[in-house]
Amino acid sequence: MSEKITPSKKIHSLEDARKLAKKRLPKMFFDFVDGASGDEKLCELNSTALDQIRLEPKVLRNVEKRNLSKEFFKIKYDLPFGFAPMGMCNLTWPGADTMLAKESVINNIPTCVSMASSTSLEKMFDLSEGNSWLQLYIFQDEDFVMELLERAEKTGYQVLILTVDVPIQFRRAKDDKNGFTVPFKIGPKQFYDFATHPNWSISTLLYGIPKPMNYETSKKGNKFVRSESRGSTDWDTLKRIRSAWKGKLIVKGVMSQEDAIKIKELGADGIQVSNHGGRQLESATSAINALPLIRKALGKEFPLLFDSGIRSGGDIVRALAFGADYVMIGRPLMYAIGADGAKGLRKILNIIKGELSTTLGLVGLTDINEITSDIIAQKFFKDMKY
Ligand SMILES: Cc1cc2nc3c(=O)[nH]c(=O)nc-3n(C[C@H](O)[C@H](O)[C@H](O)COP(=O)(O)O)c2cc1C
Repeated sequence: MSEKITPSKKIHSLEDARKLAKKRLPKMFFDFVDGASGDEKLCELNSTALDQIRLEPKVLRNVEKRNLSKEFFKIKYDLPFGFAPMGMCNLTWPGADTMLAKESVINNIPTCVSMASSTSLEKMFDLSEGNSWLQLYIFQDEDFVMELLERAEKTGYQVLILTVDVPIQFRRAKDDKNGFTVPFKIGPKQFYDFATHPNWSISTLLYGIPKPMNYETSKKGNKFVRSESRGSTDWDTLKRIRSAWKGKLIVKGVMSQEDAIKIKELGADGIQVSNHGGRQLESATSAINALPLIRKALGKEFPLLFDSGIRSGGDIVRALAFGADYVMIGRPLMYAIGADGAKGLRKILNIIKGELSTTLGLVGLTDINEITSDIIAQKFFKDMKY
């Protein structure tokens, strides 16, 4: 009897997953995940800048056993990477959030629950057995944000991520062209898009169009409007959040040394260097370019996370060598789920973990915690001494 070829059996690289996701998802939703701001060049630059960091192979080091576990905020994780917050994940597959939560348990890593997630923060905490971190934006209605903080504290969340790089949303041409808005508007164009992607449509329409569940479960009755301005967020907002939140606070979306220093002074516990995967300021520099500068400004001990452009286990090693303590992955998770749901996700995570472990061994190390800029081939970067 011939064995059924499921899509995940065809995934041998991230690009395979991306192509499969592109085929299965309606164009409007693939472009929402894949797209970036303006000319989209920054998204590409994030990855090409990482590629340009070349590592130095080291030989005869006995690298038979390799440790990938890493502590962050004194929490022991099995891997040096976690899942970045992504809103509306369930557009890629019904229950995508749940798949991420389950994988966070299996791999003992953090999963970041977006404010706009399709599953409530309480349910995600439960499903991830406490491995969830909560991500919030600040909207004009701060009372709603404070309500979410109270809910998070009551649920047992220990880590909050405050995303600050979307005071105004940068235009994404493909979203405009596809008529992608939240709340959704389904006209003839979108209907045609769904009809020509029946695998997605049947499963998603049966399961129900995903809703932003942190809003749906709020007592305040706020509605998620993606284009809503967060423009009035400022340093005083950060001070208020800092005094309201007793747990660990990470500020995400920082690309400037000056901002990083001020955020540290205002009492944040960590900073996530990120340009939102190239989805905000189109003309910004690559996130990896900003990382060592921010590390230098904050000193060796300050907890630093990194995202934007990570596409392989090798990229995670590069980011750690450039001064990150912990790394977050974004789009690759959505490509994997969009390609083949939970099976696709498992496959890509196994590929990334394999690459991570192999890269570690081939640079002559047996412990992920030993990575420093010493493993970089280019002298200029090696001399950063991180
Ligand atoms: C589909 C999608 C939705 C996202 N939603 C959020 C969000 O709700 N909150 C947030 O802080 N960042 C969000 N991000 C940004 C990611 O957290 C992360 O910064 C970015 O994806 C990293 O870049 P990469 O995708 O190139 O790895 C989103 C990214 C994508 C692709």
